Amino acid sequence: MSYPKTRLRRLRYNPLLRDLVRETQLSTNDLIYPLFVCEGENIKNEIPSMPSQYQLSIDNLLLECKRAISKGIKSILLFGIPKVKDEEGHLACSQSSIVQKAILEIRKENLDILVIADVCNCEYTTHGHCGTIVDGDVDNDLTLITLAKQAVSLAQAGADIIAPSDMMDGRVAAIREALDNAGFLKIPILSYAVKYSSAFYGPFRDAAQSSPKFFDRKTYQMDTANSSEAIREIQEDLNEGADMIMVKPALSYLDIIYRVKQYSHVPVVAYSVSGEYAMVKAASEKKWIDQMSAAMEIITSIKRAGADIIITYYALRDSRFFK
Ligand code: PBG
Repeated sequence: MSYPKTRLRRLRYNPLLRDLVRETQLSTNDLIYPLFVCEGENIKNEIPSMPSQYQLSIDNLLLECKRAISKGIKSILLFGIPKVKDEEGHLACSQSSIVQKAILEIRKENLDILVIADVCNCEYTTHGHCGTIVDGDVDNDLTLITLAKQAVSLAQAGADIIAPSDMMDGRVAAIREALDNAGFLKIPILSYAVKYSSAFYGPFRDAAQSSPKFFDRKTYQMDTANSSEAIREIQEDLNEGADMIMVKPALSYLDIIYRVKQYSHVPVVAYSVSGEYAMVKAASEKKWIDQMSAAMEIITSIKRAGADIIITYYALRDSRFFK
């Protein structure tokens, strides 16, 4: 059958009918809200390149978690901004490190929220790289030692999910083994399996003070031009025991999200990163686009491409937009 018997517009006239036939639904169940925690008290520093996002001290982080819960958000992803850094990120492996302290407080207050702990060294090293530097490059196997230690320490503090974002080879196996040896058999690993070397992380690096002081991250993060390599990355991480996998960034990688979803049977998470947020913010501040319509269109496209779960700085913006 075709036109004039077929008229595709028939299903578009009535808004209730449009709701009925909508193929992609967004829910607060699917969203993860990223948060930056820093030392001190009563601190709420707005991040210049990410308007309405803040570096929060633990007291304010607890308030933000409560706000998230009141809006139906069930998961947060925590990043730490420590006062002191060292060469190898050892400071990230202690219960007195900023993210561990924050998680301990969230647990003390019995907040009904899932805490996902990012595992990486870049926020904790003086040089800003994601691992230990040997001969001018990040040494893969030495870095696995600090990552595994950091992961166990975060689990001890009460993290619900461990999310390594460093892109070292073998980190999922190293972290799984360390967690199991420490008795954390029930703690899942959400691996940043497919993480590109992207310009869209710029605002995050301002927020987390984690820009590399020399070189770039191209020897460990993926080349933005590659697609089949993404499948190799997820194969490796699934073999090593990843429970969930992530594609990051999201908006410029919808083809990758689609491909990864077709290939794998584990939950696929997509991270709509700081630069994606900043673009929408900046254009909407100039009144060139409508902020929430654009943000929702982007989140919908990420879900439509195949992501089961979306990490977005817009998670709390307006729960009217989510079911
Ligand atoms: C750290 C990390 C980064 C992001 C999440 N974890 C930055 C990077 O790799 O430089 C970026 C998140 C964002 O841009 O919103 N390994």
